[in-house]
Amino acid sequence: MSGSPGLLAFPAVTPELQARVAAGMARVEELIRERVDHEDPFIAEASSHLVRAGGKRFRPMLTLLVAELGGGINDRVVAAAAGVELTHLASLYHDDVMDEADVRRGAPSANAKYDNATAILVGDLLFGTASDIIADLGADAVKIQAQTFIRLCAGQIRDDRPVPAEVDATAYYLKVLEDKTGVLIATAARYGAMFSGCDAAVVNLVTEYGERLGMAFQLADDLIDIASEADETGKTPGTDLREGKRTLPVLYALASTDPTDARLRELLGSDLSRDEADLAEALTLLRANRALEQATQETRAVADRASEVLAPLPDSDAKAALLALATGVVERVG
Ligand code: IPE
Ligand code: IPE
Ligand code: MG
Ligand code: MG
Ligand code: MG
Repeated sequence: MSGSPGLLAFPAVTPELQARVAAGMARVEELIRERVDHEDPFIAEASSHLVRAGGKRFRPMLTLLVAELGGGINDRVVAAAAGVELTHLASLYHDDVMDEADVRRGAPSANAKYDNATAILVGDLLFGTASDIIADLGADAVKIQAQTFIRLCAGQIRDDRPVPAEVDATAYYLKVLEDKTGVLIATAARYGAMFSGCDAAVVNLVTEYGERLGMAFQLADDLIDIASEADETGKTPGTDLREGKRTLPVLYALASTDPTDARLRELLGSDLSRDEADLAEALTLLRANRALEQATQETRAVADRASEVLAPLPDSDAKAALLALATGVVERVG
């Protein structure tokens, strides 16, 4: 799964652009590997564990792609991209503790391979490494990363809490997505524009594009948790159901008044972490339920709203690629 060139393999993306982004990604990868190394062999191993396991590298790729709207990929763009991926990686180490996940990027998660304390501390260390790289890009860049991480953590905290009684569950869920995922993807795009010399209007525009793209990305991730197989995602299907997460397809299924959905609603209202057979049944019913299609359509609509933000930009290869990416994040299976 590493590097997933598939994310840019659309007819709308020129081979020249793909080649420049691929060359930039090789530099990002080298920088990440250099910086996750450590004099202590255990720390070196634990902090490079998920880097080596793979991953799509979606966020750094977005940084490089957005830089193509400006003066192109340079050392600062590469550093920003590496900083964003390491910030993301730190959040994954912590997320797998929260979600009690055993598998990540097709490998044992850090909490499963080591223990929760190690996963939390290595996540913190990786966040420190990300900040170290970003600090060389100036105070503005560090402030953006800090504010991004505050929102990301607030989103993760809220994701782990019951929806407050007086709040609409769908509105709450969408706000959680904006924070836990949208903001870092927005920052990935923002850095790409900032460090390739784009003017302020373009920086703002791609930040808004990134935030909406990030929402679509997480909505798609939630669909994938239900619809995809472990070998496609490198994660365990049904993890959100097991954890009792009310993602969009679950909210739609729960809102159904169709009597044929009664069994699914009953299962979704129960504790699915207790019984593997119930979890498997809920997954099978949800996969076949129109709530999944409804949620897929809503995800496409959010991705379309990301694309609309790019309308004021003049036509270019990079713009075409960013438009294709918005479609790609929704249609992906892993
Ligand atoms: C997983 O992100 C966490 C989410 C915010 C959905 P990715 O789907 O980008 O995970 P990797 O980096 O490819 O492993
Ligand atoms: C995680 O969302 C979001 C962040 C890591 C900030 P999920 O919990 O859905 O991510 P996966 O599915 O485990 O990758
Ligand atoms: Mg998770
Ligand atoms: Mg989670
Ligand atoms: Mg998920």
